[in-house]
Amino acid sequence: GAAELGPYRHYMQKEIFEQPRAIADTLDGVSNVAPELFGDQAFKAFKDAEQVLILACGTSYYSGSVAKYWLESIARIPTSVEIASEYRYRDSVPNPKTLVVTISQSGETADTIAALKHARALGMAHTLTICNVGTSAMVRECAHAFVTRAGVEIGVASTKAFTTQLVALFLMTLALAQTRGRLTEDEEAGHLKALRHLPSAVQAVLALEPQVIAWAEEFARKENALFLGRGLHYPVALEGALKLKEISYIHAEAYPAGELKHGPLALVTSAMPVVTVAPNDALLEKLKSNMQEVRARGGELFVFADSDTQISSGPGVHVIRMPEHYGALSPILHVVPLQLLAYHTACARGTDVDKPRNLAKSVTVE
Ligand code: G6P
Repeated sequence: GAAELGPYRHYMQKEIFEQPRAIADTLDGVSNVAPELFGDQAFKAFKDAEQVLILACGTSYYSGSVAKYWLESIARIPTSVEIASEYRYRDSVPNPKTLVVTISQSGETADTIAALKHARALGMAHTLTICNVGTSAMVRECAHAFVTRAGVEIGVASTKAFTTQLVALFLMTLALAQTRGRLTEDEEAGHLKALRHLPSAVQAVLALEPQVIAWAEEFARKENALFLGRGLHYPVALEGALKLKEISYIHAEAYPAGELKHGPLALVTSAMPVVTVAPNDALLEKLKSNMQEVRARGGELFVFADSDTQISSGPGVHVIRMPEHYGALSPILHVVPLQLLAYHTACARGTDVDKPRNLAKSVTVE
């Protein structure tokens, strides 16, 4: 009811703005990195793991896709991420020394539970879930669990569950790195400090809402949008496109920017806004030349650029400045304005934001 919504128009907006609190709650009590954060008996599963297999659907699949970059670069552990409905029905080559990680907001998604059971039937006994509901089927089914503390999520389009999943997945990456002798105490302290500062960093990004609303007015008149990102911000671009299509019904797709020339450049006209996720990371110069490829074809860029990137507005280039680059945790900041863009575009189009047509919050049947 209206009382619970407070100053917000929809649950989705409220949940976007709850993210600093949700992240802080998820980190509450985490004073150091250890496998035990994932359950009393989790150490052996972490120690035995030769590889990680992540299984999930929807937005949870995209948080897993970000985690793959972290797991391979920080913990140096081979990782695959699979859409649960695909994994459960395909022939795969199981390795019993796999840490199977399911990610689910609800813990009730039928395909994810079936994929977990499939993995177990193939002989993989080390199962762990990152889940927002402690009493769910998924938490009961998995040997180990980390329960995110996003709180009840009502909007069908997932927001605070996603960012808290990322926090949990980052902690899991650090715990695996530690078990594998790849995390010094200094590094651990540095990562924990960055995690603890996240709530205020996200708060600063939320303050960009008025600028995002101005863009949303334009997006509301479009029928297509393209989202670009590279590296661990490619899954962020995918999540931004998913949010936009789910609630505004605008066709949106995401591409890793280096792949533009293999297809999507053919679509570029001034009628299709190109949203670009531009953190100041090692791929920035590559991304800038990808942006040039778009401009050269008359495409209009809407760039979320870290303030230290020196990307500035000009003809056909609109820029919203993000705080300075936040390192490995940058996806948690960059997804927030994409959530706001989808939200305000949907509001401008007058769609049913919290209950978009044909979609359900939790898909408990196949
Ligand atoms: C549905 C919801 C999405 C969610 C997906 C996976 O499609 O609308 O927001 O990401 O299910 O749900 P889960 O609860 O397993 O994370």
